[in-house]
Amino acid sequence: MEGAQAAEWDRRKQQELYALLKRRGFVWPSFEIYGGVAGFYDLGPLGSVLKDNIESAWKRTFLVEEGFMQVDCPSISPETVFRSSGHLEKFSDIMTRCVSCSAPFRADHLLSDAGIDAVDLTAEVMGTYLTEKDVRCPSCGGTLGPVEEFNLMFKTHIGPGTDRPAYLRPETAQSIFMDFSMLYRSNRERVPFGVAQLGKGYRNEISPRQGLLRQREFHMAEGEFFFDPLERTFPPFSTNRDRSVPLLMASDPERTVEMPLGRAVEDGIICSEVLAHFMGVTHRFVLSIGIPRAAMRFRQHGRKEMAHYANDCWDLEVLTSSGWVEMVGIADRSAYDLSQHARGSGCDLTALRRFTTPRTKEAVKVRTDKKVLGPLFKARAKEVDELLCGTGSAELERMRSSGTIQLVLKDGSSVNVPASAFSFETVTETVQGERYTPHVVEPSFGIDRLMVAVLEHSYVETASSPMKESDKDEDGDGGPYRVMRFLPSVAPIKCGVFPLLPKDNLPELALKLSSELRSAGLAVHYDPSGSIGRRYARMDEVGTPFALTVDHRTLEDGTVTIRDRDTGEQRRLRSSDAARKVLDLVQCSTAFSDL
Ligand code: ATP
Ligand code: GLY
Repeated sequence: MEGAQAAEWDRRKQQELYALLKRRGFVWPSFEIYGGVAGFYDLGPLGSVLKDNIESAWKRTFLVEEGFMQVDCPSISPETVFRSSGHLEKFSDIMTRCVSCSAPFRADHLLSDAGIDAVDLTAEVMGTYLTEKDVRCPSCGGTLGPVEEFNLMFKTHIGPGTDRPAYLRPETAQSIFMDFSMLYRSNRERVPFGVAQLGKGYRNEISPRQGLLRQREFHMAEGEFFFDPLERTFPPFSTNRDRSVPLLMASDPERTVEMPLGRAVEDGIICSEVLAHFMGVTHRFVLSIGIPRAAMRFRQHGRKEMAHYANDCWDLEVLTSSGWVEMVGIADRSAYDLSQHARGSGCDLTALRRFTTPRTKEAVKVRTDKKVLGPLFKARAKEVDELLCGTGSAELERMRSSGTIQLVLKDGSSVNVPASAFSFETVTETVQGERYTPHVVEPSFGIDRLMVAVLEHSYVETASSPMKESDKDEDGDGGPYRVMRFLPSVAPIKCGVFPLLPKDNLPELALKLSSELRSAGLAVHYDPSGSIGRRYARMDEVGTPFALTVDHRTLEDGTVTIRDRDTGEQRRLRSSDAARKVLDLVQCSTAFSDL
């Protein structure tokens, strides 16, 4: 398609698609009977299954193929969590309000509408540009006020009263970091390992206007991969080293360069094999749900765009009718999160880096003398003993040479310990390894955005309609014919089942066939009435890849018709084989032409 034609199709596609999604039960605005609230959407019967199917494909990739462990944690967390994670201070967008109508806007979005790339600009510079370029309120044309930071987290309180502030999670990742020690133990104290969580994320977006692409409550699927930063190579990367991907580097944001991931690591474009591996896994997954290779690219964040926790970050972007849109952020979060939570909680969130062969080292140990401690401290002798051993030889030596060995007990009281109560002994110890804080690479997926991408790239205009002219009149629909070409794996309904006519025992046979397909685990839509062309068309519109029709020949020879959505081709197969054959088609282990 030429540029102007493509833009016109994009505009029409957006309108038609959202109308179809609402009409056919995929998605619609929430709270509509009360006028709706921007940024909230309900997934209807087909939309929920489409989302589940995308999530199942994600789980197959990350849990089964990449071996991640899954967790499921609360959506609400106390304030301390986000103080440690940095979200309280830094998870903000830059906002401005119209002086006349008070409508709020994201400053970077206003600048980008005015043709200025704002991704790497500071708040101050954004404010200056808005004034210099005389950017006006898009709603009423009024003057814009000063820019300010707006924290995107939704605040709430735990229990009655306001003394326990809490927030809805803006990402699912934090609970995985807080649970690190449990997960490390579950993995038999070995690093590397990956942990995944799927669930809702909540962000109080300033002015969400892009439908499902920017919501205030949305579905996330995140993986946190913990690894030792001293390991320079990452063996699983061999499966992605040769995968060629389009890269848009921060150093040259005008030009997309296609290159194998292995070369991008060797040339220092991608910071590690681990990050590059998960870019490869992401690429493979996004292809597997039906996004064409040519509609994808990886864009590297510039330094100012990078989230507060990230060291290097690549977004997987997909070309949609709203332009290139981030679907997945793949970030190197280094040791940031574990270190922050270790500091905030006082807990040890480290792993053991095992030496190849255990090493020996000399250590000075504290030896206490219970005969001195017992009579002197009586009931408190055990606590003093433990405190002495825990204080360490260097500190005790320092205290001893200063003349006072004073320890503070749990109840806040202090005691003076005589030098005769302990001595030092040099011992040789076997050391298995050293403690370190693992680094993290995080692929973070927005499932709703992927759903939009799948819907848009599946929605096609085609010349060959299964409807006769009279069918079209029935629905008042004489325009171009639209088909949703979902891959069978993501299609919400796998097969339509129709009796040709609502008589002669055909509905009974079709219902029996439906139940055989359902028993085989296939989502089926049974539709007993209307013209057959119209029934096929309804299935095409919601992306059902196959349809089975029971007709009079079924009564004679036990065969049914199977129709392929994308070619309209029809074949006959034995009704008793239908469930197995449709399952093979859906799993792509048989081609339609081989039936
Ligand atoms: P953007 O720059 O578009 O605001 P982001 O960089 O803040 O996105 P991340 O913080 O990396 O996004 O979140 C991970 C993923 O979650 C994104 O790649 C995207 O798919 C999804 N996501 C983020 N914000 C939203 C939202 N408001 N609505 C729907 N999906 C979202
Ligand atoms: N977990 C990625 C993000 O929310 O920024």
